[in-house]
Amino acid sequence: MQSNMKRNEFLKSLGLKGASLLAVYCGASALSSCENEALTPASAVDFTLDLTNASYAALNTVGKYVIYNQIVIARVSTTSFAAVTQICSHGGKAQVIYNGNKFYCNAHGATFSTTGAALSVTSKPLTTYQTALTGTTLRIYA
Ligand code: FES
Repeated sequence: MQSNMKRNEFLKSLGLKGASLLAVYCGASALSSCENEALTPASAVDFTLDLTNASYAALNTVGKYVIYNQIVIARVSTTSFAAVTQICSHGGKAQVIYNGNKFYCNAHGATFSTTGAALSVTSKPLTTYQTALTGTTLRIYA
């Protein structure tokens, strides 16, 4: 039941309420069938960020990150980035951040490598995304 509440919180964050929330939420007769399903951003992932834009300029500095479309994008070195879902594989909370050298969930302290591998609290990895930098444009895609 507790994971159902977490999923509800996630769907509500997308603006779904009442009957529409229930309809999206696995169907009324199969609520328990998706209890352990991993949560990922709802839409297909393929977007770009302009690193000259002040909103994303943090990505020009190693160790910094931005969150866009519930994806945490981190600058992990001078030449590479990492992108993972903001939704934690441990309890489904949208509280994953980058703490300078690994991903970290503020809910219960789970840690994940830059490749999304679970390091503590949970054994489940984070959903990861590909990144590609062309000039000052960073593409994040599935
Ligand atoms: S939900 Fe992230 S550590 Fe529990």
